[in-house]
This record gives sequence, C-alpha cells and structure tokens, in this order.
Amino acid sequence: MQNKIITTLFSFLLSVGTGFCADSAGSNHISVFEKYVSKAVTTDETARCLNCHASRQIKLIESWEKTKHAANQVGCFECHAAEPNDPAAVPGHFGFCVKLPVTPKTCGSCHTEQYASFASSSHALAFDRIKNNPIRQASPIVFETTCASCHGNETTLKRGKAVDESWPNHGIGRINTDGSRGNCAACHGFHEDSLERVRSSDTCVACHSNSFSPAVQAWKNSKHGASWQAYAKSADMNVKGFVSLNEPVMRPDCFVCHFAAAKEGHKSTHNPSERLSWELAALKATHTDNWGDKRLMMQETCRNCHASTQTEQFYRRLDALVVETNKIVEKLADNSNENAYKNNKIKSLAIKSRVGAAMMSPAHRVEAIEELLEQK
Ligand code: HEC
Ligand code: HEC
Ligand code: HEC
Ligand code: HEC
Ligand code: HEC
Ligand code: HEC
Ligand code: HEC
Ligand code: HEC
Repeated sequence: MQNKIITTLFSFLLSVGTGFCADSAGSNHISVFEKYVSKAVTTDETARCLNCHASRQIKLIESWEKTKHAANQVGCFECHAAEPNDPAAVPGHFGFCVKLPVTPKTCGSCHTEQYASFASSSHALAFDRIKNNPIRQASPIVFETTCASCHGNETTLKRGKAVDESWPNHGIGRINTDGSRGNCAACHGFHEDSLERVRSSDTCVACHSNSFSPAVQAWKNSKHGASWQAYAKSADMNVKGFVSLNEPVMRPDCFVCHFAAAKEGHKSTHNPSERLSWELAALKATHTDNWGDKRLMMQETCRNCHASTQTEQFYRRLDALVVETNKIVEKLADNSNENAYKNNKIKSLAIKSRVGAAMMSPAHRVEAIEELLEQK
C-alpha cells in the first residue's frame, strides 16, 4: 500500500518535471522513503539514485554492484548524467539531469583509447552506410525492427521521450542525440563490464549469424570453433590484456583474431578492420586499403599457434576462392538492377562462400559454390 502511494507520488513528480534540470522541490524528502545501503561505496549523487531505484530495478543494481565500475565509484549518476540541452535528457529528474541512452561519448570520457579505436571502425558506421535504404523510407517501424536492430538507427528524442520509431534502439552504429556514433553496450551489455562476457563468441552471435554474415556458424563448423576444448576452463577469461601466447588456451574465439593484442607489446583494438585484407560482404569482394599490412597483423595472431606453412597456405587458398567466387558472380549478376531479388540471393551465396573460406568451414564453402553454380 505504502509502495503504491510512493509510486503514485513519483509518477506525479515525474509528470510535473520542471522542464529543465534544476533541483525540483520534492527531491530531498522523496529519497528518505527508501534508504538503500549499497555494497558499493558511491558518490553522493549515485547514493540518491540508488535510494529510489533500488525499489524498482533491484536486479539491475545487483549486477552493477559486482562490477569494476561499482568498485571505482562509477555509478548511476556517472553514466546517466546528461547535458541539459541534450534532447535525450529527462527534464527535472528529482534534481538531476539524466538520460537513458548511455553513449560512446560518455564511456569514452573515461576510456579514450577504446573510444577512438571504435569510432574509426565500420561498426560505428553501420547505420550510416544503410541510412538511404528504401525500407527505411517505406516503413520506419519495419526498418527499426529489422535492419536497425543490428545496424542501429538515428535516434530522435525530445525531452527524454521517443518521437518516432527510432528509440529505444541498441544497434551497433546508432547515431546518438549527443552527436556521437555507435553503441558500446551492443557488445558490453548495459551494466556489466565483465571481460569474460564480452570475449565470448555469444557477443557476436546476435548480429553475425545471418545471410550477409554467417561468420558465427562458419566458425562453429570449423576446427577453430569446435567445442572439444570448451570445457578446458583453465584460462582466466577476465584477465586484463589477453595475449594468446601467455594464456593456456588453444581455441581461438572471435575476439582472439579480431580484437585482442596479437602479440606481447601490442595493443588490443576496437577496430576489427585493422586486420582484414578483404572486404568480403559485397557482391564482388575487393581488397581493403593497405591490405598487405593488415594481413600481416592478422598473421601475428596465427603465429601464436601455427607454423607459417599453415597460415600462408590458408591465405593462398582464401585469395583463390575469393577470386573464383568473384568470377562466378560476375557472370551471374544482373547489372540492369531489374532483378534485385536474384542479385541479393547471389550476393548472400557469394558471402557464404568467402566467409566459409575465411572462417574455415568446409560445409559453407561447398554448399555456397554448389548453389552458385546452379544459379542461371
Ligand atoms: C526520487 C526518486 C528517484 C531518484 C532520486 C532518481 N530516480 Fe530515476 N527514476 C525514478 C522513477 C520513478 C523512474 C521511472 C521508472 C520506470 O519507468 O519504471 C525513473 C526513471 C529513470 C530513468 C529512465 C528514464 C526513461 O527514459 O525511461 C533513468 C535513466 C534514471 N531514472 C536514472 C536516474 C539517475 C542516474 C538518478 C540519480 C542521478 C536517478 N534516476 C534518481 C525515480 C528516481
Ligand atoms: C558504466 C555505465 C553505466 C552505469 C554505471 C549505470 N548504467 Fe544504467 N545503463 C547503461 C547503459 C549503457 C544502458 C543501456 C541504455 C542504452 O541503450 O544506451 C543503461 C540502461 C539503464 C536502464 C534501462 C534498463 C532497461 O533494461 O530497461 C536503467 C533503468 C538504468 N540504466 C539505471 C541505472 C541505475 C539505477 C544505475 C546505478 C545502479 C545505472 N543505470 C548505472 C550504463 C550505465
Ligand atoms: C567515469 C568514468 C567511466 C565511465 C563513464 C565508464 N567507465 Fe568503464 N571503467 C572505468 C574504471 C575506473 C574502470 C576500472 C578500470 C580498472 O580496473 O583498471 C572501468 C572498467 C571497465 C571495463 C573493464 C576493464 C577491465 O580491465 O576489466 C570495461 C569493459 C568498461 N569499463 C567499459 C565501459 C563502458 C562500455 C562504458 C559506457 C557504457 C564505461 N565503461 C563507462 C571508468 C569508467
Ligand atoms: C542480424 C543482424 C543484421 C540485420 C537484421 C541486418 N544486417 Fe546488414 N549486416 C549485418 C552484418 C553483421 C554485416 C557485416 C557483414 C560483414 O562485414 O562481413 C552486414 C552488412 C550489411 C551491408 C554491407 C554489405 C554490402 O552489401 O555492401 C549492407 C548494405 C546491409 N548489411 C544492409 C542491411 C539491410 C538493408 C538490412 C535490413 C533489410 C540489414 N542489413 C539487416 C547484420 C545485419
Ligand atoms: C549489434 C550488432 C553487432 C555486434 C554485437 C557485432 N557486430 Fe560486427 N558488424 C555488425 C555490422 C552491422 C557490421 C557491418 C558494418 C558495415 O560495414 O556497415 C559489422 C562488421 C564486422 C566486421 C567487418 C568489418 C569490416 O571492416 O569489414 C567484423 C570483422 C566484425 N563485425 C566482427 C565482430 C565481432 C568479432 C563481434 C563480437 C565480438 C562483433 N562483430 C559484434 C554488427 C555487429
Ligand atoms: C564489437 C564489440 C565491441 C564493442 C562495440 C565495444 N567493445 Fe570494448 N571490448 C570488446 C572485446 C571483444 C574486448 C576484449 C578485448 C581483448 O581481449 O583484448 C573489449 C575490451 C574493452 C575494454 C577493456 C580494455 C581493452 O581494451 O581490452 C574496455 C575498457 C572497453 N572494451 C571499452 C569499450 C568502449 C568504451 C566501447 C565503446 C566506445 C566499446 N568497448 C565497444 C568488444 C567490443
Ligand atoms: C583464427 C582467426 C579467426 C577467428 C577465430 C575468427 N575469425 Fe573472422 N576472420 C578471420 C580472417 C582471417 C578473415 C578474413 C581476413 C581478411 O580479409 O584478410 C575473417 C573475416 C571475418 C569477417 C568478414 C569481414 C568482411 O570482410 O566482411 C567477419 C564478419 C568475421 N570475420 C567475424 C568473425 C566472428 C563473428 C568470429 C567468431 C564467431 C570470427 N570472425 C572468428 C579470422 C578469424
Ligand atoms: C589459439 C590458437 C590458434 C590460433 C590463434 C589460430 N589457430 Fe588455427 N588452429 C588451431 C587449432 C587448435 C586447430 C586444430 C588443430 C588440430 O586439429 O589439432 C587449428 C586448425 C587450423 C587449420 C586447419 C583447418 C582444417 O580444417 O584442417 C588452419 C588452416 C588454421 N588453423 C589456420 C589459422 C589461421 C590462418 C590463423 C590466423 C588467422 C589461425 N589458424 C589462428 C588453433 C589456432
């Protein structure tokens, strides 16, 4: 009963939000209704958020309390505080100016290196590259619930509330109201900062298992992704600065090849393109700029586990398959643009063949090539 009255009072106070982020009259005596004693030592601001929010999202708060963030006084206020002129800011939130979306700009104010690296990646551009897609013009809600759930959307809010279909959105290339691009939480999650979680291939699965990016299935089908070693849990996956050479694991997960430091003295990256010699996800694959250097970077990783004969052979065959697939596609693709469906089918088969080669899945390669040869 008492809770119900309190909730009603909160809703009322929220609804009469003052329209700017100055202290609202009710804030001080509201927080004394509930006194939450957190396991974490917090700033005074965050202590006030916890007093109220503990009665609502207790599971959220418990998961935050286990983090390094909580141990370092990075709490609710430190991440959710907003600039008053940010359209995502909820006005007059009990004396605070807060917002729900926490953007790379906020994370990057403390993690500058990761921010800069991520901002230069194609992950940060994932929405930008498809913003003119006809689906977006035809139906914003279809776009939001399909393409945008992976690629991101341009979020438009007014006084903290959604004005169209674009928010909430958790895609990787989201355009934020504070001008920043992308979304760290697409991989790290909302309130966990566990490296073990983000290093799992499950982080990539939601986005990289479709016809334009069958990477997860291809990896699982390969010797690299086989689970025969999954139970050999001797490694500490939360270790800072993972370097294959120093860790007792033989199974390369996605992050080992695409993110982690390739060798001692190197840094991890948040831009997987730094190690890619091909742009595979297109009708016709092309080399990336400075592809030779990028390939050498990737090979540093392979060297932790393989002899160069093995890796050089791998790249010779990858190149050969990419070139062959391009030739087949060239013959099949209908450049008149009249047959978009057919071209899409050919494109996804071509990607399947190349990603099968990159991620070493014999089944993907053979299925894709067979189907391509059947196309007319
Ligand atoms: C006096 C109580 C109270 C205090 C203090 C308080 N909040 Fe809230 N907050 C609420 C209530 C109630 C809601 C609405 C909950 C819901 O929608 O389920 C809310 C909602 C939110 C939301 C979601 C907004 C949205 O768009 O849905 C965020 C983010 C938030 N609060 C962050 C904070 C932060 C950060 C602090 C501390 C700086 C804080 N709050 C302090 C009561 C409070
Ligand atoms: C390290 C930064 C960080 C900290 C610390 C943090 N949050 Fe969040 N919070 C986020 C991110 C990121 C999201 C996801 C929002 C988005 O989509 O951008 C989020 C989402 C939320 C949501 C919506 C969750 C949902 O599933 O509906 C609430 C409510 C919230 N935070 C409240 C809090 C409260 C209360 C605290 C303090 C215990 C807190 N946050 C601490 C980063 C943070
Ligand atoms: C106010 C500063 C601040 C903000 C904002 C912040 N962090 Fe952190 N973060 C820290 C600190 C301090 C640590 C602990 C570092 C350590 O233990 O060396 C940390 C740790 C982490 C870790 C674990 C690193 C490790 O070595 O185990 C990750 C991952 C992380 N943050 C991601 C994020 C993300 C994603 C966001 C935004 C949603 C964010 N952080 C926002 C300060 C911040
Ligand atoms: C399940 C997540 C997911 C959804 C949903 C999704 N994509 Fe993608 N898309 C991806 C990933 C991952 C890649 C990157 C593949 C790579 O680089 O190997 C990608 C790549 C692309 C590319 C670049 C490749 C190229 O053809 O040049 C385009 C364009 C694209 N997607 C458009 C779309 C459109 C339009 C939609 C909605 C109809 C959509 N995607 C839906 C995950 C998704
Ligand atoms: C929320 C969705 C999402 C998640 C999670 C995600 N990706 Fe992506 N990824 C994309 C999209 C979309 C693209 C295509 C970007 C573009 O080119 O427009 C992409 C592109 C890529 C590329 C190609 C980059 C290039 O320059 O061609 C690599 C490699 C990649 N992702 C690896 C990963 C790995 C490894 C993980 C897991 C640690 C991961 N991604 C998690 C959506 C995601
Ligand atoms: C595509 C998925 C993905 C996205 C998006 C992402 N991260 Fe990470 N992040 C990872 C992976 C994987 C690791 C572990 C790298 C390793 O083992 O070396 C990591 C590690 C980290 C660490 C630990 C230190 C380090 O560099 O290894 C921090 C801090 C961090 N990320 C912050 C961020 C911030 C800030 C953003 C947004 C600007 C962000 N991440 C976006 C996947 C991602
Ligand atoms: C053993 C190392 C290794 C592992 C493990 C690995 N990859 Fe890859 N990945 C590669 C190589 C090599 C390429 C092609 C490199 C090139 O272009 O030179 C590639 C290409 C890709 C591409 C295509 C990029 C493009 O050009 O469009 C995506 C997406 C991708 N990987 C995602 C993943 C995901 C997700 C996982 C985990 C399920 C993963 N990778 C595991 C080595 C690896
Ligand atoms: C962390 C260790 C590790 C890393 C890093 C690694 N591999 Fe492997 N690789 C393995 C293991 C384990 C096998 C399976 C060997 C066996 O069957 O005993 C394997 C198998 C292979 C095979 C044989 C596949 C087959 O189907 O017969 C090739 C080719 C290969 N790796 C290439 C690469 C390339 C190229 C890279 C770098 C892009 C790489 N590997 C990175 C551990 C690794």
